[in-house]
Amino acid sequence: MARRDADAAAFAALLGTLTPNNQGWAQHAGVLMLAVAHSSFPANGNPNRHALYDTGAASAQMALQAAALGLQIHQMAGFDPQKARDAFAIPEGFEPVAAIALGHVGPAEALPDALAARETAPRQRRPIGEFAFFGSWQG
Ligand SMILES: Cc1cc2nc3c(=O)[nH]c(=O)nc-3n(C[C@H](O)[C@H](O)[C@H](O)COP(=O)(O)O)c2cc1C
Repeated sequence: MARRDADAAAFAALLGTLTPNNQGWAQHAGVLMLAVAHSSFPANGNPNRHALYDTGAASAQMALQAAALGLQIHQMAGFDPQKARDAFAIPEGFEPVAAIALGHVGPAEALPDALAARETAPRQRRPIGEFAFFGSWQG
């Protein structure tokens, strides 16, 4: 985790792992984070095949908590995991899964046109029937 104001070097390092598109807006976030999965159980070293699921679930809970506090997180697949590993000395057995920006929502007009259009477009969610099935796959 790196705060833009308090941990400028770490913030810049994390920002540098993001794709140029993501850097464009994420540079203004108050905080940048990495969601990292622990691929094995610390107690016995056995593989944790739910590590990615756990990490995504934890991030989703953070999204809800942020919203409850009047903040917002923005999750990103658009980052370079190897760069993140190098920049923060993340050891083997831990997988950088996503980058996350946290902050207060800024005005859409401050964004470049394409991002402003995305930000203000009506949210469309896929119908549940497209991805939840009864009985059998796609049943
Ligand atoms: C795993 C994952 C990766 C994502 N990667 C990116 C990304 O690299 N850049 C980006 O701008 N949005 C990315 N998104 C989308 C945003 O996090 C967010 O879901 C999207 O802007 C929709 O926002 P809304 O829920 O307010 O409609 C990603 C979302 C998820 C779940």
